[in-house]
Order: sequence, then C-alpha cells, then structure tokens
Amino acid sequence: MNSPDRQLESSIYPPPPALAQHAHVAGRAAYDALVAEAEEDHEAYWARLAREFVHWKHPFKKVLGSEKAPHYSWFEDGTLNVSWNCLDRQVAEGRGDKVAIVFEADDGQVTRTTYAQLLAMTCRLANALKAQGVKKGDRVAIYMSMSVEAVAAMQACARIGAIHTVVFGGFSAHSLRDRIADTGAVLLITADEQLRGGKALPLKAIADEALALGGCEAVRSVIVYRRTGGAIAWSARDHWLHELMATQAEHCEPEWVGAEHPLFLLYTSGSTGKPKGVQHSSGGYLVQAAVTMKWTFDMHDDDVFWCTADIGWVTGHSYIAYGPLAIGATEIVFEGVPTYPDAGRFWKMIERHKVTVFYTAPTAIRSLIKAAESHAEVHPDRFDLSSLRVLGSVGEPINPAAWEWYHRNVGGGRCPIVDTWWQTETGAQMITPLPGATKLVPGSCTLPFPGIAAAIVDELGEDVPNGQSGLLVIKKPWPGMIRTIWGDDERYRSSYYPAELRGYYLAGDGAARDRATGYFTIGGRIDDVLNVSGHRMGTMEIESALVACTELVAEAAVVGRPDETSGEAICAFVVLKGARPHGEAADKLAVQLRNWVGKEIGPIAKPKDIRFADNLPKTRSGKIMRRLLRSVAKGEAVTQDVSTLENPAILQQLFETH
Ligand code: WTA
Repeated sequence: MNSPDRQLESSIYPPPPALAQHAHVAGRAAYDALVAEAEEDHEAYWARLAREFVHWKHPFKKVLGSEKAPHYSWFEDGTLNVSWNCLDRQVAEGRGDKVAIVFEADDGQVTRTTYAQLLAMTCRLANALKAQGVKKGDRVAIYMSMSVEAVAAMQACARIGAIHTVVFGGFSAHSLRDRIADTGAVLLITADEQLRGGKALPLKAIADEALALGGCEAVRSVIVYRRTGGAIAWSARDHWLHELMATQAEHCEPEWVGAEHPLFLLYTSGSTGKPKGVQHSSGGYLVQAAVTMKWTFDMHDDDVFWCTADIGWVTGHSYIAYGPLAIGATEIVFEGVPTYPDAGRFWKMIERHKVTVFYTAPTAIRSLIKAAESHAEVHPDRFDLSSLRVLGSVGEPINPAAWEWYHRNVGGGRCPIVDTWWQTETGAQMITPLPGATKLVPGSCTLPFPGIAAAIVDELGEDVPNGQSGLLVIKKPWPGMIRTIWGDDERYRSSYYPAELRGYYLAGDGAARDRATGYFTIGGRIDDVLNVSGHRMGTMEIESALVACTELVAEAAVVGRPDETSGEAICAFVVLKGARPHGEAADKLAVQLRNWVGKEIGPIAKPKDIRFADNLPKTRSGKIMRRLLRSVAKGEAVTQDVSTLENPAILQQLFETH
C-alpha cells in the first residue's frame, strides 16, 4: 500500500484558475458547502439533486427507505423512465440536432448520431423487442462490442422496463451461458462478429455455443447486429437487427417505472463462488450517474467526452451508456483498441475529435508510456492535444509516476486529473477530486464526492485515525448503490454488510487517509479478488476453471503478483494428475492450460505465470497458504511463519522455475 505519508512529499496541483472560475463546483469553499449541506440533511441533499438532474413522471415524496436495510430504497414512490431522460428529454430541450455519439470504428471510419437519431433508433429497437414478446421485468442479455447499436440496445431495454445484462465481448461461451442462465434472460442481442485491432472475432458463434451448453432454455430469440457480414450459422430463433428495426415505428411510448425498478444486472467477481449479478435501480442510479458525470468531469454544453471503457463493465454503463446522455453531452464511442494501427491511436483520436474530457484506465496509460518511450512517433507530444481540459483515471490505483506522465504529456501540465474510486456495486463515482475545487496529489483519489460518507475503519467498525490503514467503508446509503445480488439476498448482506461493521457498506478495499489533508489513498483489495488491467477477477473462479480440466489438473491455487503494466498479474500453481513436467513439456502444458482458462472464462483470465508443483503448501488443517504463495509469486523471500506448513519440502520446489 502507498504510505499515506508519501503525500506530504509529493507535488500538489491546485485547480487551474480559469477552469475553477467556470466550474460547476467552483473552488474548495463550494465543495465544502456541498459537503456541509449533505451532512446537515443527507436525504434533503440527494432529493434536491434528484429533482435537479432527473425528470420524474410522478415526483417522489419518500427519499430514503430503510425499512428493509441493508436493502435500501431511494425515491421509491417516484416514477421515471431512464431512456426518456437520456433521449426524449434532450430532444425536448433543443438538443435534437446535437451529436450524441461520435462513433469511431476500428478502421477509423466515423459516424455521427444525433440525439434525435439515437432516440429514433432506440424506439425502433424497443418496439422490435416488444414484438419479440419482451415485457417489463424480463431480462435481456447483450453480448456485443462497442457500437452505437449496443448503446441503443441498452437504452431500448430501459425504455420498455426490461432489465439488461451486458456481457463483455471478451468473455467465453461458458461465462456467457452462466450469466444468461442466472438471469433467466428471454432474449439475447449479439453481433455476427466484432472488429478489434484489424481482426474479426466471432460473437454469434460463441453465443450459439453458449446457448447450446444448456441452462438457457428461457431464451426465445436471438437478435443479431450485422457488423462485418462474416459467415455465421443461422437458426429459426435468429433475427437480423436491421430487418426487425426496418418494420418498426420510430415512436415508442416509454414504460414509466418505479424508481426501484431494476435497470440492469452486471456480473462481477467476489472472493467466493461464481460471479454475482449486481442489481441496480433506475432512479437512484440515474441520479448519481448524472450528477457525477456533470461535476466530476465539469461537463459543459460544448464538451466532447471520451470514456475508453467497454460497455461490458460498469464504467461503460455509467459513463458511456447513461451518464453522458443523461446530461445531454457529446461523447466518443470507440470500437477498437489503443494499440491499433499503432500506440498513438488514443492521441490521434483526441486530436481528430477535439476531445475535451478524457477518461481512461491506469493500465492503458502505463502501456502507452512504454510504447511512447520506445517509439517517438506514438508519443503524445507528436499530437495536438490542446483541446483537453480534464483527464480522468478509473479502475485501479494509479501510481504517481504514471500520474505525472499523464499530467505532463497528455494534459500538457494544464489539465486536472480526476482519479475516481468506485466499484460495480457503487454504481457511480464515490471518492474523486472535482477539477475546479480539489487540489490534486498524485496517487490519491482525494476526497469523497459530496454526499458520500466514506470512511476508514478497523475490523469492528471503529474509525481509525488518519495516517493508519484500514477498511474502506461507506457509512450511509447512497442513491446509486447496489440493491441486492440477483437471486441471492443473503449473499448481498453477508458480502457487503457483515454484522461486525455496524451497518456500514464494506467496499473490499484497504485504504488510508492522509494525516494532514484527510485525502484517501486506496491500497487495493483485501479479499481474493484480483485487479488485472482494471478488470476484476476472483482467484476462486480461475481455480475452478483450472480444476475443471479434469483430465490434467488435480489441484490449483491462484494468486496475484504486482505487474508493471497490468497492475496485477495472475499466477497459478498447479498440481497435475500425472508427473510434474519440466522444460519444454512444462511450457507446452502451460500454454494448454492457459488456453483452457481462456475458453472457460475468457482471454482476460489467462494466467500469466503457471507453475507446476507436486503439492500445494497447506496448513495441517488443509488450508492452502495463499500468503506464502503470494510471496513465491513475487519472487521474494518467504518471511511468513512456515512452521504450520504440512509439507515444508514443497517450498523449495515452488521457487524453482520449470
Ligand atoms: C479498484 C470499476 C484505486 C478497487 C469502476 C475497487 C480503484 C475495484 C480505483 C472496483 C481507483 C477502482 N483507485 N483503485 N481510482 N477505481 N479501483 O467493480 O479495488 O470493476 O474495489 O469497478 O477497482 O472494480 P470494478
């Protein structure tokens, strides 16, 4: 964990005066006033913002519902439609001809879609879903790559009150099947293929495979967006998206839903068991997505916003599919990857589209630093990035060196960086600087968003003093919070509201506050969740995938180790059924197992290191000593007490590289 004292030595960056002057939250005093308003009356504060940022069909009277705590409700008796707020409302307010989405394809082709066009498209798609029998409350799975159609598909679900679950296009057939089965989705929207880095990759074929695995019997139809025109298998339940849409009207009356009606389910990893379906609401979620969008990025009407996340992750939900549209912004949607045709792609796109607010992940920055240092032609200084005003970072801790590089080379030393801490479960940003109000310290996500009661406590929920590490908790409910885990209320309560913590939400991250400033520094997960390139993965999931290779694998343990580029790397210790392989045989087996995991979960879960052993280090009671494996994976000397090790000889073997 970064030592909180480091902050004192690091440089401090005050808000640029010109930006601060016109900011929505202008200056530290304005921030403090908002914090005070929320502290004085938490409910009244959020109710004010809910009225300012969201149009309610029927206004709410009740603000926070705590009767079923920790299953909280917000604005429960209000009704709204999320898609109406994101689209119709913008058109009604005169933004019909404003560009909502600038889409840049993998090959560089650009399409512009106005708010009026996106509304028409969403309505046609919503009508098509209705024609396929999709009703309010039904689940719809979306397995697509980055496209205007994917955003419209999410909006179309919201329009008719269907609950979407977007599955990242890099997930395997097994992962897709698990999510479809768990939600009981009645319809799947996919594409023939996706284009990334000049390559066409299958989506429909994987979707077919997923449906054939069983457990997805509720799926009545599959709607296919034709992206590449590549050859695909076709069956009676398949329909082309463009054919369905062609026969539908451009108007679709929105379904006005209660604020607590689920908007979406998004699966994420925990320390145990299968990925969990995080359930989000319509009203509270939209309020927080919209407010944070406007304040954290200090968005004004002429800004061009670009969030480089994928819609398969929560960042792509809150800051691509909903947040920007809810405030009527123009945003970039990018189909490709940052390194194609070369590692200057991001900078080239910022220059081309005159992007003013840019939001990306530390892993992307670190890999682009590497590229820029070895290839001058992809260095950001070769591009005109003068349009940029605000930079953002999300998904993992950003190390001060990467922060400084981003600030200097991308932001030209003039753009504040908002290092935003939040999670799939929180729905929107929780701890973050506000660019016109907060002094920045590289490596710190600074202070809570006004109205978010973040704190650091010990195992019993007691506050720890500034300067000491502890558990990051949120003491009061907030509008965008997770409502439950789909189909598993008990798991929701035990994962996030453990009894010892006095009703505080447990984030699962370790953190500390600076002694002098109270600024937060996030240390990383305290559970068995890895963060690889900003993607969350449970070590258990990868272990289960490995042992599912029953022909070869007897036992497996997975841990993370620090990695310069991806933050953490996956390291697997594997006990085979046969003899321990050496040399080339070991390399071959490692490749085979890596591909196996890729097929079971998806390429992002492939272990970087695979080490074979005759045994795993266990305590006498049979528990795998993960802390010890972490040290081994890092290549550091084992300092833990190994006297409880059942099989001490195994240590030597683990250190040997095959
Ligand atoms: C980590 C992504 C440090 C953290 C929005 C959290 C961060 C997990 C930051 C959630 C940050 C996210 N600084 N760590 N600014 N942002 N994290 O659910 O460990 O994919 O618990 O949501 O990412 O990941 P998730």
